[in-house]
Amino acid sequence: MKVLIVGGGGREHAIIWKLAESQKVTKLYCAPGNAGIANHAECLPIKAEDLEGICDFAVSAEIDMAVIGPEVPLAMGMVDALESAGKKAGKEIMVFGPNKKCSQLEASKSFTKDFLSRHKIPTAGYREFTDKQELLENIGIFGFPMVLKADGLAAGKGVIIAANKEEAKKGIESLMGSRDFGAAGDKVVVEEFLRGVEASVLCFVDEKTIIPMESAQDYKRIFSGDEGPNTGGMGTYSPSLVFDEKLEKRIRREILDPTLEGFRVDGLDFKGVLFIGLMIQEDGSPKVIEFNNRFGDPEAQSILPRMETDLMDVLFAVCKNRLSDISIRWSKQKAVCVVAASGGYPGEYLKGIEINGLAKNGQIYGSDAIVFHAGTAIDHICHGSYCGQTFVTAGGRVLGVTALGDTHEEARKKAYENIGGIRFEGMQYRDDIGLITPPK
Ligand code: AMP
Ligand code: GLY
Repeated sequence: MKVLIVGGGGREHAIIWKLAESQKVTKLYCAPGNAGIANHAECLPIKAEDLEGICDFAVSAEIDMAVIGPEVPLAMGMVDALESAGKKAGKEIMVFGPNKKCSQLEASKSFTKDFLSRHKIPTAGYREFTDKQELLENIGIFGFPMVLKADGLAAGKGVIIAANKEEAKKGIESLMGSRDFGAAGDKVVVEEFLRGVEASVLCFVDEKTIIPMESAQDYKRIFSGDEGPNTGGMGTYSPSLVFDEKLEKRIRREILDPTLEGFRVDGLDFKGVLFIGLMIQEDGSPKVIEFNNRFGDPEAQSILPRMETDLMDVLFAVCKNRLSDISIRWSKQKAVCVVAASGGYPGEYLKGIEINGLAKNGQIYGSDAIVFHAGTAIDHICHGSYCGQTFVTAGGRVLGVTALGDTHEEARKKAYENIGGIRFEGMQYRDDIGLITPPK
């Protein structure tokens, strides 16, 4: 099968790395990919948001399946566009990912809150506002901290937790006044503040079945000890220590099953990955914080290396609505993924900085730790009279090093030993990923 992966970050590298093992995959393409992905797939000079360019390529290259990594092309309707381009050309293109209608589950907070409350799935109480003045008059409706959320996609930055009235005013000004997140702030959702421990469950979903993957724990803040601003994720470990059998059963009964039933009742023909962000409250009860409709990044980088089943079999089953036919096997080994970011990230950062410590294939010479590339490129660099091709930085999160071990501690030690051999100017990574105390 010829497979096209849309996206170019660490998550897409992990998907491609796993698919490259499959006997069923004959050719991998990635749009646009990155320097590490280029070792497994042919990278195309097409942006992940270029619907037309991707459809044209998929038809002309006779792609059998497309896998959409990031949320933006999903929200734009990439799945619908590819499926209909295939039909028009007289060839089925299977697409792994939710269609435009279902993608609202990540692209609109109010769509998801309405879905959750309609189907009695536990979540924080909320109210929606489209008028700035009305919102200003309702500061503190659920007390403080006040949770303010831009309704639309905001690259994970559209949530403001205001500790007091002053911060709430500033937050409202940023969302609905200066429009820091553009149209994403047309509507603002205000939520009750939830206390507890955060955890995520990623599930494979088709129209009849929902199967949770092994769990992973994300570290969202930039600095060790959960300090500093939020990022896309600075590391993960899998399995998460937050879950036990009792909690898993409760999540299945109170969240997963009612969600699948809600999809059926509402005519949401979801297929792909549903990534559920949860708050596990002090009394042990789980509440949904958010839905995402794709693999997590960097969750995928610690989950997929633990998957023993051929990923292509799972993706194929989802596309054909036959997920109930397969059982997914997981390794007992633990995984830790540590992300290295550019200096300044998640604020401004430089690109094009030489990365040292990687072999020609983008991996670490003589090591079985895996380097998942996120923001990397190849550039021609000269040192005095020596000139050659080298890996350079090309994004905020540059790469992630994943190691497996019999225990979390073994995996953690190995991941840190390996990332210690990689250097670039300004490189920053947390030193507490995989420590047994779960993050705040
Ligand atoms: P979201 O994009 O909705 O996942 O929100 C981003 C982050 O904000 C979450 O991972 C939580 O840390 C925090 N958050 C969101 N909603 C709430 C809430 N209702 N109560 C407490 N924290 C929240
Ligand atoms: N790591 C969080 C996300 O992918 O949204």
